[in-house]
Amino acid sequence: MTMTTAPPTTSPDPVSVPVEPPPKRLKLHGRAFYESIGSPKRIVAPMVDASELAWRILSRKYNADAAYSPMLHARLFAETEPYRRQSLRYAPTSDTEPALSYDGEPKSDRPFLIQFCANDPQHLLAAAKTAQHHCDAVDLNLGCPQGIARKGHYGAFLQEQPDLIYKLINTLHKELDIPVTAKIRILDTKAKTLEYAKMVLDAGASILTVHGRRRDQKSHNTGLADWSYIRYLRENLPPETVIFANGNILYNADVEACLEVTGADGVMCAETNLYNPAVFMPPTASFEEKFPRVDVMVRQYLQIVRDLTFGEGNPVVELSKERYREHASLTCVKSHLFRLLHAVFNKKEYHYIRNTLGKATGHRFNEILELADELEKVVEEQLKLTPETPEQWDEIMKEAGGPGADAKILRIPWWRCQPYVRPTPQQAYENGAMQKSKKELNAASKGSKEPKRELDAESAASDSKEGTKRQKVEEPQSEQIKANDQLASLESNVSG
Ligand SMILES: Cc1cc2nc3c(=O)[nH]c(=O)nc-3n(C[C@H](O)[C@H](O)[C@H](O)COP(=O)(O)O)c2cc1C
Repeated sequence: MTMTTAPPTTSPDPVSVPVEPPPKRLKLHGRAFYESIGSPKRIVAPMVDASELAWRILSRKYNADAAYSPMLHARLFAETEPYRRQSLRYAPTSDTEPALSYDGEPKSDRPFLIQFCANDPQHLLAAAKTAQHHCDAVDLNLGCPQGIARKGHYGAFLQEQPDLIYKLINTLHKELDIPVTAKIRILDTKAKTLEYAKMVLDAGASILTVHGRRRDQKSHNTGLADWSYIRYLRENLPPETVIFANGNILYNADVEACLEVTGADGVMCAETNLYNPAVFMPPTASFEEKFPRVDVMVRQYLQIVRDLTFGEGNPVVELSKERYREHASLTCVKSHLFRLLHAVFNKKEYHYIRNTLGKATGHRFNEILELADELEKVVEEQLKLTPETPEQWDEIMKEAGGPGADAKILRIPWWRCQPYVRPTPQQAYENGAMQKSKKELNAASKGSKEPKRELDAESAASDSKEGTKRQKVEEPQSEQIKANDQLASLESNVSG
């Protein structure tokens, strides 16, 4: 445990009342830190354009214990005020400012971890020093596998530079007033992943999040996360190491299964949280609590955005495009609604709602609120035609079961929040959504075996089963591309 001591108070003037410096927070490390923030088990993942304040508040209402910010770009955050203002909303500094909730607010947004991508320890430190006043820990993204991360040289593309990773983490460990944490992907073998994890922890990471997929598992090739790697880390790292497991969560039951199978301290979930924010509800919750009505969820979510944007009880007014862009929670509304409503939009008869949402402009929030009225109407009409019964729910839940990734896909009605299940790589090849690379085609035409990555026996076995299991995909391309475009345009604004 590292302790930061307060500087001695000097008060030579006997007339003035001695002013105590604000007590410096005790800097805790590892498990002591984890326990100090309430030992969170259900964690909202860092998600560009998606784990912003409104979404975190909603997820916490549905039992999330902790949440990460979207990934922020350390250098831009350190150097440019507009980017900082877009990325984080600060506490009001005077009584005249509206009392809106803000990022890291004690009553509504803790525990809260701010994530950065970086490849320069000094940029990272400068960014983290500003961020540390708004959160419980600063996280380093070592998992992003996207092209923009390759180009910008961050995320999973630092894997080949352990010395740089060590320096990035260790600088924060030594210099920050709050702990540093890190999020990694697994490597090709368990032994290599363990060595990597040890290095990250030795550098000073207080919590290690392990996404059980490799760097090349992205887009249509995402496949399943391998929980056995996380279990291996749990068994080979000291018990005081805090591990969050990430990957393969579709249903509430998967959270418990993941904790059991991996032995991790907490489970982080990204994509399913976006499709069903109630994914973190406990096993004892009812069917209705685990799969809330989508119109109810949309209403609750929009109410949060409304309060954050206009202030509780204030009228909704049309914002200028400039003011609109200042409200991070408002700019994410459309993409959140598209995800929440994906099962509704699969039905042809409701394409008109999808089209209206597509055309809606975020700065006219009233248009979006009208859409929620329409949604409520169609769900109510459906329920009059086919009222739900607890027996039906029992029937649906009978399908549940099987550990984690082997659990069956449940037939949740379209008017309830539900995960998005994508085709397996095999199905994606078959329906043309994914094509073999030139290398793979050449290999196939020469009759040689497809190039295989180096695997240990256990993962080779689990790989061979992969085609028959359900598949989950993270980081939808369009979203990431949008986020990347934003970063790229910020980059060019800054450099220009
Ligand atoms: C929309 C979206 C944005 C993401 N952005 C980030 C990010 O900013 N930082 C990060 O470390 N991972 C990001 N990820 C990856 C997730 O945090 C997570 O590691 C991955 O999706 C696997 O978890 P899942 O199976 O629960 O989706 C993102 C994922 C999604 C779906």
